[in-house]
Amino acid sequence: MADAGSGTWRTPPAGAAGGAATGAAHGGGERPATGTNAAWFERAVRAIPGGVDSPVRSFASVGGTPFTVGHGEGPWVFDVEGRRYLDLVQSYGAVLLGHAHPVVVEAVCRAASLGSSFGMPTPGEVLLAEAICARVPDCDQVRFVSSGTEAAMSALRLARGVTGRSRVVKFDGCYHGHSDSLLAGGGSGVATLGLPGSAGVPSGAVADTLVVPYNVVPELDDQVACVIVEPVAANMNLVAPRPGFLEGLRRACDAVGALLVFDEVITGFRIGPATASVLTGVTPDLWCFGKVVGGGLPIGAFGGRRELMAALAPSGPVYQAGTLSGNPVATAAGLAVLDEVTPADYDELASRVARFAGALADAIRAGGLSAAVPVAGTLAGLYVGPPPGSPLEAPSDFGGAQAIAASGVYPLFFHALLRRGVMVAPGAYEVLFCGFTHGDAELDAAVEAAGEAAAEVARSLG
Ligand SMILES: Cc1ncc(COP(=O)(O)O)c(C=O)c1O
Repeated sequence: MADAGSGTWRTPPAGAAGGAATGAAHGGGERPATGTNAAWFERAVRAIPGGVDSPVRSFASVGGTPFTVGHGEGPWVFDVEGRRYLDLVQSYGAVLLGHAHPVVVEAVCRAASLGSSFGMPTPGEVLLAEAICARVPDCDQVRFVSSGTEAAMSALRLARGVTGRSRVVKFDGCYHGHSDSLLAGGGSGVATLGLPGSAGVPSGAVADTLVVPYNVVPELDDQVACVIVEPVAANMNLVAPRPGFLEGLRRACDAVGALLVFDEVITGFRIGPATASVLTGVTPDLWCFGKVVGGGLPIGAFGGRRELMAALAPSGPVYQAGTLSGNPVATAAGLAVLDEVTPADYDELASRVARFAGALADAIRAGGLSAAVPVAGTLAGLYVGPPPGSPLEAPSDFGGAQAIAASGVYPLFFHALLRRGVMVAPGAYEVLFCGFTHGDAELDAAVEAAGEAAAEVARSLG
């Protein structure tokens, strides 16, 4: 693929990381917004609750105010003042080829020029559905929606409709979007803000949601419609399934006639060329997708075997719909991404991420903090704790992740990294997203910055 792991992404504006203003220099030819971060955020707070359209973007748990992004290029984002940051967030995993990748930009422009929404079938949704099903054995059909939240919510309805049962089992610290019945015990922003769930969710909406610990196979009974799980948990930072956990879930579901749902909104086409189900060899009944399959545009999808999907309206009794579902611009972007990368590209990225993770953990420890940087495919976690710089045990459940976050080191490390031009998520429960434009040069720079940041934080902690 073009530009994969090149180590250099186009020509960075002069002044680069750490603060130099570069005005409106921008590889795409368009002029991004200018002004100051402070002025934009002040306006944002007046017009948008908390100044953000998703709580994970706020700096509530790390302190301070977020910068406002003017534009992105490959592995970099630039704030409206022209300051450049190495972006290890990549739109929380939605962007795989780096920002404004030419192939995606061209696909989006081409699709938009033909019309951006019709409320009628289009070739793009067919091509993307075929591309997904071709890569995921036993996923015969998918239906597109507009977000990962809708994908998980709809998969749940389908599971309940097919089984005629109500109860849903989910795992503490897994996040499946913000639908009422799935917010309980949520990771990601729900965990970051320390919320037990959400105000506004009536008790009846969660009465049939059972929250159980990750990595322990729960006992099920014949009331259970489905078990929904992130097969590799990426919303309590990164927690891998213990050997036998997913296999145990499969057996437990089969024993009581419940469906197994893998929420692969993050892992799908990100952890590797297909899914965590393919990597682990455990096949669920239903999958949820999002993020990468929309190439950075709003999308979600859920899918499974043909006979299960046949229960959806119009062929079956489970109603599910969406004005913008299968949107031609989003499906064009997603298809462009899936077509651009090969299995060998993913292997190369996974090797690069493994090297990066090892070096990152070493650098943070050498700087004087304790650290664990677990890896799953192309995903890496980032747990930091107080001095002395020693290995931290990578957690196996949400309780372990919470205990590490409770040390309060992450917010200090986050800001020390940001001052050095490296952007990780402003919350301790997110993973590091490296993409195909994060080459060795960029990742080495991140390692160097992390070592310095760790030393600064360790000194400040005495
Ligand atoms: C595993 C998982 N499922 C579902 C969602 C919800 O997706 P969206 O934010 O597109 O609604 C997310 C979002 O981060 C996620 O990580």
